[in-house]
Amino acid sequence: MGAGRRINIKKNSQSNHWWSELLSEKILFFTPGPTYVHPRILRALSRPVEPHSYRGFIEKYKVTLQKLKALFKTEGEAFLFAGSGTLAQEVMILNTIKPGDRVLCLVSGFFSSRFKDMVLRAKGVPKVVERLDGRGFMGKEVEKLVKRDNFKAIAIAHVETSTGVASYIDEIGEVALKHGVKLLVDAVASLGAMDVRVDKWGITICGSCSQKGIGAPPGCTLIAVNKQFVEELEKRDHDVPTFYGDLKMWLNVVRDPENYHSTQPTSLVYAVDEALNMIFEEGLENRFKRHEVIAEAIRAAIRASGLRIFAKKGFEANTVTTVHKPDNLDSVKLRSEIECLGVVIARGSGPFRYTTFRIGHMGWITPSDTLALVSSLQLTLRRMGCNPKRDMVKAALEVLASSTLR
Ligand SMILES: Cc1ncc(COP(=O)(O)O)c(C=O)c1O
Repeated sequence: MGAGRRINIKKNSQSNHWWSELLSEKILFFTPGPTYVHPRILRALSRPVEPHSYRGFIEKYKVTLQKLKALFKTEGEAFLFAGSGTLAQEVMILNTIKPGDRVLCLVSGFFSSRFKDMVLRAKGVPKVVERLDGRGFMGKEVEKLVKRDNFKAIAIAHVETSTGVASYIDEIGEVALKHGVKLLVDAVASLGAMDVRVDKWGITICGSCSQKGIGAPPGCTLIAVNKQFVEELEKRDHDVPTFYGDLKMWLNVVRDPENYHSTQPTSLVYAVDEALNMIFEEGLENRFKRHEVIAEAIRAAIRASGLRIFAKKGFEANTVTTVHKPDNLDSVKLRSEIECLGVVIARGSGPFRYTTFRIGHMGWITPSDTLALVSSLQLTLRRMGCNPKRDMVKAALEVLASSTLR
């Protein structure tokens, strides 16, 4: 290039920086789902599409369900069909609640608040206990509520993705078992990234999906039920108010995939299966530890910046961090500025849409991705005149350096 000659920079129509094309397939998604999908999973997805009645697919589906049972930690049954996390929530309610049944709905944010409407549509009677102060639910307080009423079921989100708040499902499960109440757990934002133990924790039915902690593309509903509930399904002599989501009908399919209830998302089953292979190759304990350390590094960076984390101590999820937005920070601009660096974070959700922003950290995220996120956030905050109080990168580095992640 001759001296003084000006380079004609072509700007992308979507964006005001010239390297957006360079970033287009290199984006770091720190979103609370869908999350980054590893190329191994993409390759599994790219196989020729198979019919659900094809012998090869049937064998794959059977082994995938076995791996899912191991991930949910149940001796009961696992289900996988086309759908999403919302469908998982609805299927849990519609398969357990009869008209007039009282359901304790424990709400720690937007997603768990939807159980109430689902119970009403099943003609049940929801009793909502809402807590939006950054604390999740623990066993003792739930026991007090259960003792006072005659609940058929408790519905709760393990991790509430809008607030980044986690609840103590193990303790609540003990209460549910002791008082003979069914426990319905939304593990949409925990399964595959945080420990979920259906049998040990006394969970009756647990719902999740493919696109979050498991790190596969969106499109699958994942459900697990314990042995007692399998027996109930077998004996059930009434119809439930959903045909597609009727678990008794799906039981015929998961036990013998030659049976038909609805066309399976065959390519996605291959993707979920490969994700499960990778999860078990990493090892569940290692995987949960990786999520814990990365979450702690991100929280340390946020604290160093002077911003406030929504979840109170002891209730922080290891999959998503919701951050209070100071009045002087434009969160739309924050998201668009950090996107220019190739990092995507999420806006607030539900009632906190305009007062928070969220960082998802689940799936295939590595320590180096984490450092890229933290340094990009620090740079963006500085550029926006919201100077971090302390060095965010140093805070994250200290957590990573003192961890066993190496
Ligand atoms: C805790 C929780 N439950 C349910 C859902 C709904 O899942 P989906 O968007 O896949 O329907 C979400 C989605 O983010 C979630 O985070």
